[in-house]
Amino acid sequence: MNRRDAFLSMTAGAAGLGALFAPQLRAAPTPQETQARRGMPAIRITNVKAVLTAPPGLPRTVIVKIETNEAGVYGWGCATFTQRAKAVVTAVDEFLAPFLIGKDPDQIEDIWQTMYVSSYWRNGPVLYNAMSGVDQALWDIKGKRANMPVYALLGGKVRQAADVYRHASGDSLESLLESAQGYIEQGVRHVRIQMAIAGNANYGARTEGSGNGFLGAPSGGPHNERMYEPTPYVLSVPKMFEYMRKNLGDEIELLHDTHERISNDQAMWLCKRLEEYRPFFLEDPVSPEQIGYFRHIRSQCTTSIAMGELFNSPHEFVGLISERLIDFIRVHISQIGGVTPARKLAALSEFFGVRTAWHGPGDTSPVGHLANIALDVSSYAFGIQEAQQWPETVHEVFKGCPRLENGFFYPNEAPGWGIEIDETLAAKYDVDSRYDTPFDYSWGTTRRRDGSIIRP
Ligand code: CO
Repeated sequence: MNRRDAFLSMTAGAAGLGALFAPQLRAAPTPQETQARRGMPAIRITNVKAVLTAPPGLPRTVIVKIETNEAGVYGWGCATFTQRAKAVVTAVDEFLAPFLIGKDPDQIEDIWQTMYVSSYWRNGPVLYNAMSGVDQALWDIKGKRANMPVYALLGGKVRQAADVYRHASGDSLESLLESAQGYIEQGVRHVRIQMAIAGNANYGARTEGSGNGFLGAPSGGPHNERMYEPTPYVLSVPKMFEYMRKNLGDEIELLHDTHERISNDQAMWLCKRLEEYRPFFLEDPVSPEQIGYFRHIRSQCTTSIAMGELFNSPHEFVGLISERLIDFIRVHISQIGGVTPARKLAALSEFFGVRTAWHGPGDTSPVGHLANIALDVSSYAFGIQEAQQWPETVHEVFKGCPRLENGFFYPNEAPGWGIEIDETLAAKYDVDSRYDTPFDYSWGTTRRRDGSIIRP
């Protein structure tokens, strides 16, 4: 049959369309459905559990394992909210597991939507991280059943690998430059620069013996330990950019994270002041509570802005993306409920010319990093990927943990995420024997000279 005949036969069949759209009750799958599943039998979730582990090189890490009635078919997902890890374990083991057992793991979208409303009250890091563990494990299962890596299920590669950025830091301009050059020698083309200054606990500048950037000097006020004042910090940033541009040239991409610690007027000043150094992005110039300022920043300068790692809900990104008020979305994928909502945000971003910069800190598990990479290579809206490297202890527990090559992350080519977790080893590195407390209380400890807490 040629195309014209095919068209005529379709038109002739149009009279039967009413019957086609009439509601039907089906006891058995249609031949088309059977074909779509390639003859695979019905599959059910038989077990859902959280695995809590902390091998050297990872903090308190939560992974979800979903098992099915098909021999050898199970999946892994990242549910790591390291600060409150055991709360996520409870949400997975005591709430989501009984809700999910018996369900069809193929129905990822429906399971996400039902989990979302299953406790009536929605959002929040505990529930979303638990949901992410389930969601990512279901994508892993679907990939294994289809014998395809997850990026292939998401539409296939639009790029071969994800360009990454690494974290350079130092307690002087010289030591910061040395740190950046170390990454550049490894082939890295994008470097985040963070510098400690004496007496001020600047964010992200981890220097030997100083604790998160604090180089211990008397503050002259009631608060001395981990003291941070925004003004010395803000004044130091343009000087840091000037020095790094002068020494590294124009082609290296420089990034910086303000971490929301400054006032809104200082944020406006800093964004304008950094324009001449062309940062690849300036992250979190204002806090999640002050996103109204992005419109003002946009109207004042062309500095590229990244935002969003602390957002609790994917919906918090919609206005900033659709009004083109930011350049990069910093989504912590497990924090918004997994790959299912993240791929929708990637699609939304593509329509508005906003790019992705999925959050990839040390407290995202290797499974979570593989989810980032699958989205990186399959989405045209990709911008940059924050990367980590792990010691061999982590590779022993997480077999298939990504490794950097010349400043690129490549996806695994094995089905699903292509990662296998050694549960016996994971259990050996248990959280309770490594830490005094199952929770991480390191945030909420940095104060201004007068003793008031800073965010975050
Ligand atoms: Co950040």
